[in-house]
Amino acid sequence: MPRLSTLLLGWYKASKRALPWRDHPDPYAVWVSEIMCQQTRVETVVPYFEKWMKQFPSVKALASASERDVLAVWEGLGYYSRARNLRRAAKIVVEKFGGRLPSNLEDLRSLPGIGRYTVGAIASLAFKMDEPTLDGNIRRVFSRLFDVKGYADSPGGEKILWALAGENLPKGRAGDYNQALMDLGAMVCLPKNPRCSICPLKNLCKAQRNGTQEMRPTMKPKKRIPTYVHAAAVIVERGRVLLSQRPADGLLGGMWEFPNARIDGDPARELVKALRGATRLKVRVEARGGRSQASAHGRRELGTVSHAYSHFRVAVYPFWCEKVEIPKDKNLKWVKLKDLEDYPMGKVERQIARQIK
Ligand code: ADE
Repeated sequence: MPRLSTLLLGWYKASKRALPWRDHPDPYAVWVSEIMCQQTRVETVVPYFEKWMKQFPSVKALASASERDVLAVWEGLGYYSRARNLRRAAKIVVEKFGGRLPSNLEDLRSLPGIGRYTVGAIASLAFKMDEPTLDGNIRRVFSRLFDVKGYADSPGGEKILWALAGENLPKGRAGDYNQALMDLGAMVCLPKNPRCSICPLKNLCKAQRNGTQEMRPTMKPKKRIPTYVHAAAVIVERGRVLLSQRPADGLLGGMWEFPNARIDGDPARELVKALRGATRLKVRVEARGGRSQASAHGRRELGTVSHAYSHFRVAVYPFWCEKVEIPKDKNLKWVKLKDLEDYPMGKVERQIARQIK
C-alpha cells in the first residue's frame, strides 16, 4: 500500500486549486493569506487578498498604513481583530526584524495574531520547513483517516490530531503536504456528504472502513448562543449623519456605527432612555418604524438587520431620530452621507448605511 503522503501528493499535483498565494515568493503573502483564511472560505478570501496585496504590497507598506485604511480593505471579511493584529505585527516586524518576516518559530509565534496553526503554515509554506499544521480541514481529514473518537476540539483531541499531523510529514515537502490536506478537506473530505468514492486516501481511511465518516470529527456539544436586541438612532441633518466610533479594543474595535444601545423590551419605546444611558446622547424618535409613520416624515422605512457573530446574534432596529442634545464626545462625528463608504463598518451597520443613502 503506498504511503499516505505519496497518495496525497500525487492527488495534489493533479487537483490542487490555483490560489494567488501559492508558490508566492514573498513570505508576507503567505502570512496575509493564512490570516485571511482563518474562519473564512478560500473563495471569499481570494478577491480580498488581491486587493490587500495591491494596497499593502509589503510588510513596510502595511506597517505605515493607518488602521482605518486597513479596516476599510478588510471590511466584509469579519473578525476584524485579525486585520488590526496584522498591522500591529507588521510594525513589530519592521522594528525588530528589519521588515522581513522571521523564519524562527518562536519569533513568529511572538507576533500578534500568529498562533500554532499559523506558525506551522508559514514555516512549511513560506520557509519550506518540515512543520505540521492543523486547521479545520486538516482536523477533519485526520479525524476520519484515523477514526479519532474523542472530542476533536478538546485539549486531548487536539494533542492526538497534532501528533497525527506531524507523524506522516514527507521530508522537504511539508508545505505541499499541508496544503494538500487543506484542499482535500475543502474539496473531497467535506463536512457533510464526503466524496469518499473519489478520495485518494479511501483505502487508508479508517472511518470509511467503519462507516463513521459522518460522525467525525466528534465535537463538543455546542452551547446555544444568545440573541441581543439593539436599537440604533439614525440622525440625519443637512446631508450629514451622526456616527459613533467603537472603542479601539474588542469586537469591531475602531469601526463606525450608528449610536445604539442594547434594549430589553420594545425597541421603539426603550430607545430614547437606553441611548441616553449608554451614550448620554438625547434624541427624539421621529419615525417608529412602520411605513405610514416613516413616510409621514418623508423618509423611507428602515428595515431591521441581524447578524450572527461567533458567540451571539444581534438584531438591530434602526429608527429615524432627531437630536435633542449631543454630548461632547470625540467618538461622535457628523459624516456626510456621500462619505459613508469611507468609514469602516461591520456588516450590520453597513446594511443600515445602505438604506439611508
Ligand atoms: N486555507 C488556509 N490556507 C490555505 C492554503 N494555503 N491552501 C488552501 N486552503 C487554505
